[in-house]
Amino acid sequence: MDRIRIRGGKTLKGEIRISGAKNAALPLMCTALLTDKEIRFDRVPDLADITTMTNLLAQHGVEVTTKLSGKERSVTLCGSNITDTTAPYDLVRKMRASVLVLGPLVARHGQARVSLPGGCAIGTRPVDLHIKGLQQLGAEIDLQEGYIVARAPKGLTGAEVTFPKVSVGATENLLMAAALAKGETHLINAAREPEITDLAKCLIGMGAKIEGLGTDHLKIQGVDSLHGVNHPVVADRIEAGTYAMAVAITNGDVELIGAQHDLIGSVTSVMSQAGVEFSETPRGLRVKRTNGDLVGVDVMTEPFPGFPTDLQAQVMALMTTAQGASMITETIFENRFMHVPELTRMGASINVHGASAMVRGVKRLTGAPVMATDLRASVSLVLAGLVAEGDTILNRVYHLDRGYERLTHKLSACGAEIERLSDGAAE
Ligand code: UD1
Repeated sequence: MDRIRIRGGKTLKGEIRISGAKNAALPLMCTALLTDKEIRFDRVPDLADITTMTNLLAQHGVEVTTKLSGKERSVTLCGSNITDTTAPYDLVRKMRASVLVLGPLVARHGQARVSLPGGCAIGTRPVDLHIKGLQQLGAEIDLQEGYIVARAPKGLTGAEVTFPKVSVGATENLLMAAALAKGETHLINAAREPEITDLAKCLIGMGAKIEGLGTDHLKIQGVDSLHGVNHPVVADRIEAGTYAMAVAITNGDVELIGAQHDLIGSVTSVMSQAGVEFSETPRGLRVKRTNGDLVGVDVMTEPFPGFPTDLQAQVMALMTTAQGASMITETIFENRFMHVPELTRMGASINVHGASAMVRGVKRLTGAPVMATDLRASVSLVLAGLVAEGDTILNRVYHLDRGYERLTHKLSACGAEIERLSDGAAE
């Protein structure tokens, strides 16, 4: 299995191009199940999760073609001949977002059989909100042998769905399903993440009638059919936030090309308090450390527009070498502190009390062999490795391949000493 070696201590300088968002591209690709016309997405990142979604859609009968022009990938999908409405366990267990085929399949094809995703490294992560919401739109749903079996032979019907808890995935599933339901649907207490707004814009481009974009109340007037579209994937705010922290931790100065400041306001606000400077440029966002040490700040994860849980591990890495203490509270997922023991092995001082972690800044981190059990935890160890004394070897690199396009390349182009060691390469 590949590993990554980082020799810490280099300052990042230059520019990094931000990719299209993985978490936007995944639901967008599922819209291919809603129409028999061709749709094309530009700026699709080259990631393992996108390959998994491609394989899943292909297994349903969607034709998928990928084209590379320069560094940008576009993906064309055509769901005119859906041959299979089952999402098998082997694909769903690899990636939870596979459950996003459920709403579109049952809305357009009247049936779906989707494996339950099961537990994952960052908690139990149920899909009850997806199921209850679709039932409210008239789908009959049974759980059989680990599968969600959904039927709506006469199609779905609009309804008022109030989510008891904010869920990104459930909002996306219901939004796609409601686009083809008869009559009006209200999604109340909907998630407001920019990836949902991107999905809504794409659906509108396909002929859907949706109001309330960017708010927690989406109103959808169902239509009989949707048509093709050409849609660019929104920039990856989590990737942008991650690189902003890489710049900050190394005392660097980098322009993040394509980063959208309005999508990471909660992140820049926390980082500014810690001593990082941001300025908008015609091409994106410039990040640089202002003079002096970073100072510890308290952070609490929340649904958008709050601080994203997908940047919690990275901000914790940033705080390990800040002056003073920082209290980091995780409110979205249970059990999302798996990076803590690994950061501690690198010399960080962190104590976890329930959903909060108290980080006391230390003068230096030291390189170590580390591994992580999820995507964001892995990248937090890369950040720590960039500033640690000596070598850090990160194992289980496949987690990073799920969500960070050309990570070693992007960082080394800015001066980081980082390389991928292929299986069998000498350490
Ligand atoms: C999405 C993102 C993920 C991010 C998360 C929160 C994608 C592909 N993934 O995941 O990177 O960390 O949003 O911003 O976009 N919940 C339930 N029942 C449900 C669904 C969710 O109880 O039916 C709970 C979850 O366990 C969690 C919370 O709701 O505690 C939020 O989860 P949700 O917003 O649904 O996350 P995902 O859509 O899975």
